[in-house]
Amino acid sequence: MTTRILFVCLGNICRSPAAEGVFRSLAPQLHIDSAGTSDWHIGDPPYGPMQAAARARGIDISDLRARQFETADFSHFDLIVAMDAKNLASIEALRPSGCSTPLRLLTDYATDQGADHVPDPYYTRDFDGTLDLIEVCARGLAARL
Ligand code: 4NP
Repeated sequence: MTTRILFVCLGNICRSPAAEGVFRSLAPQLHIDSAGTSDWHIGDPPYGPMQAAARARGIDISDLRARQFETADFSHFDLIVAMDAKNLASIEALRPSGCSTPLRLLTDYATDQGADHVPDPYYTRDFDGTLDLIEVCARGLAARL
């Protein structure tokens, strides 16, 4: 059974904490966490504009703090979900031999959106567009569990 899900992006201050908050609102009974592949923002709260965009939809992510993805996460989670192909490659490079924990792209769960990654709003500044995509994908993921 898939009950522990980790969302991963680069900084763990925009996309993956948003995905964590959105998914927790859909499936509060599951163990949900997020992490970044980089160490750039360890200990930081989600980026202010991302927090504000989530809050406007009733999702409070202010308590979350960034952490870096670590090899042990492969055994602590049933499913790891990356925001883009670069995140996915960075995580895959750390996979212990013999470990079969599934690693997917979030956009795999909403193929009809025509998106192959979740664009990074830290650069695009489109926090609402990112949340729209994350919400569609999160609903797709929740429906497949
Ligand atoms: P995230 O976005 O990977 O969605 O958290 C980023 C946040 C910060 C940086 C890059 C991406 N940065 O360069 O600090």
